[in-house]
Amino acid sequence: MTAEKPPKIIEFDQASVRIGRVNILRDITFYTREREILGVIGASGSGKTTCLRVMTAQLKPHRGVARIAGYDVKRDAAAIHYATGYVPQHEDESLYFPFSALENAHFFGRMYAITGREIQRRASEILDILGFDEDLMHKPVKFLSGGERKRVSICVGLIHQPPLLLLDEPTTGLDAHLRHELLNYLKQLNYHFGTSMVLISHDLEVVEYCSRVVLLEKGTISLQGHPDELIRSLTGKGEAIEVTFDRLTEETIQQVSDIPFVETTIRSGRGSLKVFVDEPHAQLPNLLKALRERNQLPTELSVVEASFYDFFRTKSWSEQEEPDEVIA
Ligand SMILES: Nc1ncnc2c1ncn2[C@@H]1O[C@H](COP(=O)(O)OP(=O)(O)OP(=O)(O)O)[C@@H](O)[C@H]1O
Ligand SMILES: [Mg+2]
Repeated sequence: MTAEKPPKIIEFDQASVRIGRVNILRDITFYTREREILGVIGASGSGKTTCLRVMTAQLKPHRGVARIAGYDVKRDAAAIHYATGYVPQHEDESLYFPFSALENAHFFGRMYAITGREIQRRASEILDILGFDEDLMHKPVKFLSGGERKRVSICVGLIHQPPLLLLDEPTTGLDAHLRHELLNYLKQLNYHFGTSMVLISHDLEVVEYCSRVVLLEKGTISLQGHPDELIRSLTGKGEAIEVTFDRLTEETIQQVSDIPFVETTIRSGRGSLKVFVDEPHAQLPNLLKALRERNQLPTELSVVEASFYDFFRTKSWSEQEEPDEVIA
């Protein structure tokens, strides 16, 4: 007997969203199961926040269906309000700065008709997991650092124990160390409470924390699935050839990129390139031959693991076209 899969907590079925006369999201189909962490990744303007606003039932698809925790966003906005917690990109949208973390939790918890005692218990439990000591819990938010404010906002988003937490760009504005710290805190909350999460990001860095990923490009999904499956679907199936030169010049990079069977080339260190080809092991001798023919002699050549991040670094996320006007 096979174990039953957890129910779907988010389900978009050919959903299209229009704001005014502009199609912002087109034909979006994906799902996430309970307890999963979904990454919605895309460049600025690709439609990430719009997607999140559909999940909170603030926006409704004009075509297709979007269901959150089994509720249709077109019909059950009130139920979705209780089923979701929302952590906006900017803390000034979600917190009262003169209040402490606990006071913010009380203020927002009251809106869900939770008793003061229960709010206190929940907020302390959440803030404890988020690494807050007693002192920090009582400090006004205005005296907290960026990373600490973000954690207070997460506590407020979770105060009514929603099964789904939606976070808009939670790592933006934090340095590398704090970004990973925050993502680890989210993993712990996901583990402890079983909360499903959506992480919106323009950075592929979050992918390693996600159990499922949706890549948005110009309002449509260009790729989706489990991160490992996605890596395997890319050129080289998760492997690349690393080539090291004594002196790596722009001309060398151009020469390597121009080799017909080379799909993509990225810099991977001071004198090294990662070269993406189909079947890296089989192509390694061919690459060496092609380099020799071009008088570009490497000092080292080996097959290495490619990360999801490596491959997509080659993509130009900034080159987004304006969304299409709706005609008639
Ligand atoms: N209220 C609105 N009226 C008109 N156009 C809008 C509106 N909201 C969003 N858009 C447009 O929809 C597109 C997607 O916007 P959205 O905010 O979802 O992108 P995003 O991926 O979240 O970008 P960012 O990374 O910059 O936050 C953009 O081209 C934006 O200009
Ligand atoms: Mg946005």
